[in-house]
Amino acid sequence: MSPEERSQLPPIPPAPHAPPAGPTAPGSAGTGGSRRAPPSPFSHGPSTHGGSLPSAIIAHARLLRVFDSRGNATAEAYLSTASGALGHAAAPSGASTGATEVHAFPEGGVPVALERFQRKVAERLIGFPIDDQDGFDRLLKELDGTSELSNLGGNTTTALSIAYADLRSKVWGVPLWRAIPGCPSEPRFPALVGNVINGGAHAVGGPEIQEYIAFTEAPDPGKAVEAAVAVHRAVGKRLREKFPKGALGRGDEGGWVAPISSVEALEVLSVACHEVHDERHAQGVSVRPGLDLAASEFYRKGRYVYRDQTLDPDGQVAFVSKLIERYGLAYVEDPLEEGDFAGFARLTSRSARGGNPLIVGDDLYTTHPARLERGLREGAGNAVLLKVNQVGTLTDTLRCVELARKGGWSTVASHRSGEVPDAWLAHLSVAFGSRGIKCGVLGGERIAKLNELVRLAASPTP
Ligand code: PGA
Ligand code: ZN
Repeated sequence: MSPEERSQLPPIPPAPHAPPAGPTAPGSAGTGGSRRAPPSPFSHGPSTHGGSLPSAIIAHARLLRVFDSRGNATAEAYLSTASGALGHAAAPSGASTGATEVHAFPEGGVPVALERFQRKVAERLIGFPIDDQDGFDRLLKELDGTSELSNLGGNTTTALSIAYADLRSKVWGVPLWRAIPGCPSEPRFPALVGNVINGGAHAVGGPEIQEYIAFTEAPDPGKAVEAAVAVHRAVGKRLREKFPKGALGRGDEGGWVAPISSVEALEVLSVACHEVHDERHAQGVSVRPGLDLAASEFYRKGRYVYRDQTLDPDGQVAFVSKLIERYGLAYVEDPLEEGDFAGFARLTSRSARGGNPLIVGDDLYTTHPARLERGLREGAGNAVLLKVNQVGTLTDTLRCVELARKGGWSTVASHRSGEVPDAWLAHLSVAFGSRGIKCGVLGGERIAKLNELVRLAASPTP
């Protein structure tokens, strides 16, 4: 938050509203100690906190139709208090969506979501206290009334759920990450999971594998961003040398697109990662290659269909294991189709011998706690990707964070291929204590998250 923004906020309320001093359970209001009973979702009067002070409440709620980086319409939510504190957030959208994701919007799209919000939701939010994320998210789900959020849409509830946390941060006068239930007492910055070559559903004419990733760790976010950008440039240079006469494009997430096979693209990525790693290793920077295969996208009738090979599930496990060993992959997302828990488990145990990369479930888990519970039981991976709009609320996402923490798994907070220029994902990655933030490298809507990490690291009072 800039000093100007901070100076426009209402005064910071006294102690009972203070953000958590240390880790608290997700779903708690972050007040420490015993938690009061959740307020009635339909209460219109001010609630009391500790019986003494009135809690800030929502005075106005609005939803707007705005556009994402692909130009598709999406929802942006605005919530404010009577004293003028304003929280807002817009929701991104996916292209290679998992089958078990909630619906992004109701049938009829954003206009229908806006109309239902106006008719059925807005006034039910008025009077709701700002410090009950769990209760607020429960109310959103009740008002939708379906398990797949098909009445309001998961993007509508996501925008509202994040705007609600943002409003709390504004009233408290703290950065968003400190207003998220269960946040750590000190920020730790995630590794950057930055996509530098695009394929699959995000790029016409590219390889089948969807994302070629630079997994970058550094002493501070600024150095990590520089290194990820250096990999992006080095990959561009190499692709230009390889295709001197061809047109090089960029995909939906800002990575390069070239008419290249999956293994050739990994070769280019790996050389660039090593180059940048070797140059900067003495400064504490580490860059390793990674992949998001998004394997459901090229899975047809029980086979993984590449332009130069077709593999059955066992063949796919063997192929990915070989890539892990040969290229020292640090990160492997969705190596198998979205229903194959057993294949994930086989690959995870095999990869423990190949440098133990993060084996990350995205389409497999779709940020759904019940699916993650199954994955934890079956050893199907060792990390979960978190996309709030796959499940529709911050609270359900926080349940996944808690499950992953208890099970010894890592989390990676992720963007979508159709993004908005908001920076809330950077705050979520810090609040979740995530091992990584996946938000691309270049493009205004991607760099917005990276710049926010740089700001947070530079802030004297994060
Ligand atoms: P999506 O893809 O946002 O198009 O679903 C991103 C990813 O698979 O990680
Ligand atoms: Zn993915």
